[in-house]
Amino acid sequence: MRKKIVAGNWKMNKTADEAQALLSEIVNLIKEEASSATEVTVVLCPPSLYLTMAQQQVATVGNVSVGAQNCHEKASGAYTGEISAPMLKSIGIEYVILGHSERRQYFDESNTQLAEKVNSALENGLTPIFCCGESRDLRENGDYIGFVKDQITDSLFHLSPESFSKVVVAYEPIWAIGTGLTASSAQAQDMHFELRRHIAGQYGDEIAQETSILYGGSANAQNAAELFAQPDVDGGLIGGASLKAPDFITVVKAAQ
Ligand code: PGA
Repeated sequence: MRKKIVAGNWKMNKTADEAQALLSEIVNLIKEEASSATEVTVVLCPPSLYLTMAQQQVATVGNVSVGAQNCHEKASGAYTGEISAPMLKSIGIEYVILGHSERRQYFDESNTQLAEKVNSALENGLTPIFCCGESRDLRENGDYIGFVKDQITDSLFHLSPESFSKVVVAYEPIWAIGTGLTASSAQAQDMHFELRRHIAGQYGDEIAQETSILYGGSANAQNAAELFAQPDVDGGLIGGASLKAPDFITVVKAAQ
């Protein structure tokens, strides 16, 4: 059975004190309310500065991991301000979000560069949470399914079946991110179904059925249960709602 995952993408939010407070609130609520959600893997992705703080906080809870929001494609070198996959690995990080639409939009990350980031993450034993998704214009006027399939083809389909099976996919329609405009559960299911079929075409049914495909884009405490009830939606990548501990825990419980 494929893994159910709820990942919280904090983006560039929270000072150190605020991060500490949010982490301890999340950890306490997981212990009190969601410890029975053992089949759900929770991944907290705070800003890199707080990764170690997050690891210390979650050390006492089962099934909670810490992830980074990005990494560079090179292992080391003169890349001021960047963080590499071997560095993340060296402090015990397990997951890394790659190809978030904000990185694609504001930092010009291309499918080719993301293929290199995916390689570096996998070579260092990190699980990439690979984001894909279409713009509003494409959804309304273009072949949006083809566009998202191409993102997956271009950045992931060079991988061996063994490597691909370590990747988590996150479908995040750009028009739904931070806008309050969630994809309907039917729209999410349709896309997840298409992506799973696309993966099956390259790697076969068995690997496609084992691939966790998360939904992201204004998923929250109110709509998560309906989204996660769809057969091909295996959890979520949560932005805004991951910054409020009670809401985030409701989303985690919805994935049970
Ligand atoms: P959102 O962000 O939940 O705030 O829409 C999701 C994401 O960008 O991962």
